[in-house]
Amino acid sequence: MEKEYEKRNIEIEKEIKKDLEKIVTLNDLVVTKAKYLGKNGCITELTKNMKDLSPEEKALTGRFATEIRNIANTLFMEKETKLKEEALNKKLQEETIDITLPSCKIKKGSIHPFNKIVTEIEDLFVSMGYDVLDGPELETDEYCFQRLNIPLGHPVRDTQDSFYVDVDYLLRTQTSSVQARTMEANKEKGPIRMICPGKTYRRDDDATHSHQFGQFEGLVIDEHITLADLKGTLEVMARKLLGEKTNVRFRPSYFPFTEPSVEVDVSCFKCNGKGCSLCKNTGWIELLGAGMVHPNVLKSNGYDPNKYTGFAFGTGIDRLAMMKYNIPDIRLMYTNDIRFLKQFDRKELK
Ligand code: PHE
Repeated sequence: MEKEYEKRNIEIEKEIKKDLEKIVTLNDLVVTKAKYLGKNGCITELTKNMKDLSPEEKALTGRFATEIRNIANTLFMEKETKLKEEALNKKLQEETIDITLPSCKIKKGSIHPFNKIVTEIEDLFVSMGYDVLDGPELETDEYCFQRLNIPLGHPVRDTQDSFYVDVDYLLRTQTSSVQARTMEANKEKGPIRMICPGKTYRRDDDATHSHQFGQFEGLVIDEHITLADLKGTLEVMARKLLGEKTNVRFRPSYFPFTEPSVEVDVSCFKCNGKGCSLCKNTGWIELLGAGMVHPNVLKSNGYDPNKYTGFAFGTGIDRLAMMKYNIPDIRLMYTNDIRFLKQFDRKELK
């Protein structure tokens, strides 16, 4: 009896192997596997009538059926692995990339001249220990004017007549509003060193003025700050941004939030002061407005003017970029013409 079962198993194994040789796809494999191990497969059939058998026969049938089932499973599994491996190799072969082919060109962007200047300014002032701060563009009349010593009805408002949203809110006309906000937010009322680059808005539009433009403000407050500190700081800034030979001069001026106020000129960095079209033959270029923070401004933002003094300056970012890169029209900064922007390649970034 046992011999017979053994022989039958050998027979089935042989048959499976023969079938497997013919198989080329995973689909064929599934079909063939069903022929042996499926619900009506011949190996499954072996144990169909177990209940009618004597206990000895039952044990024998069971043992040999399990044996051949295990053998069959192993054979099918091996074949499946082999087929999958072959399929994968074929796929890899088909998908090989020819790395000698020329690649498609990726268009590379460049940093906008506005942002290049901002990055340079930020790096410079951070290296001198300043914080870089931000303020709201939709600002209240209070922070844009009143806290800066410009009460309601002050004539200086005429020069900054701008985009009011209602009587209290307007698009800020100057980043000086951040001076007031920074002083107010400083709870200890201690020293401040900050710059705040950002967008500003005025009702202007011509080749050198846009309704939206960038300004950055600088504010330093501490004990014993003098006009000499302001001059030294602006000299460092001018030399770093416009060239080591740049000189700085102060002219008396007027801003309601600084006293004394100055207009700051730099020697023309194109002609070194000899006179050219950029400086309109004067040798000097107007750079920014500045001054010592007015005691009223210190007071209205919680600082004691008897203890603290400070300086502030503010300038147009677009103006700086236009001077530095010889850009003739401010509108070029905002119309995003790719031919214009392409000239400011990344390489130029220091
Ligand atoms: N806010 C002034 C302007 O927009 C510039 C300025 C800033 C002047 C700080 C003095 C001090 O013209």
